[in-house]
Amino acid sequence: MKSIAGYDVIKLLAKGGMAAIYLAEQTSLKRQVVLKFLNPKLDEKIRKRFIDEGRIIASLKHPNIITVFDVVSSGKYDFLSMEYLPDGDLESRLISKPDVYFSLNIIKKISDAVHLIHKQGIIHGDIKPANILFRGKDCPLLTDFGISHRIEPKKEVDLSPDDL
Ligand SMILES: Nc1ncnc2c1ncn2[C@@H]1O[C@H](COP(=O)(O)OP(=O)(O)O)[C@@H](O)[C@H]1O
Ligand SMILES: [Mg+2]
Repeated sequence: MKSIAGYDVIKLLAKGGMAAIYLAEQTSLKRQVVLKFLNPKLDEKIRKRFIDEGRIIASLKHPNIITVFDVVSSGKYDFLSMEYLPDGDLESRLISKPDVYFSLNIIKKISDAVHLIHKQGIIHGDIKPANILFRGKDCPLLTDFGISHRIEPKKEVDLSPDDL
């Protein structure tokens, strides 16, 4: 078993072009967590965005947004440590037609999370069923803020009576 910065890696959960996702145990607290490692071949700009991803999620407190515990950035690797959500994603639950109460519950909770994000001036940029994971049977959580970014708040402009 490999150990990294206080975590024992248990197994690979998923791997894409940008990141690899591992199940791990945080040794100090003896709890299971997920580690999202950035592909080390990617350049500095993407590294910076990845670290921003962790900071953005950590700044958002909402029952339907995944909890990030830490962002670790050493010379060798960059990873996020976050809550483990073992109950699958929305995409796989849509293989059969969901009932109306299930659908309304998802729409309400995810819209509420997106509303909070937008109020904070953050654009998620990749909202889709594969990026909505479940805690238990019917608690959906928005995840994968990999391409999210902050936007400038709109500036108030002083209008003179001549402009009106
Ligand atoms: N916190 C988590 N708990 C359990 N599985 C996860 C978690 N985060 C990611 N995964 C798994 O890894 C996959 C890819 O993660 P994601 O953050 O969406 O990265 P990518 O940028 O590769 O899409 C998810 O679809 C899910 O299967
Ligand atoms: Mg994703």
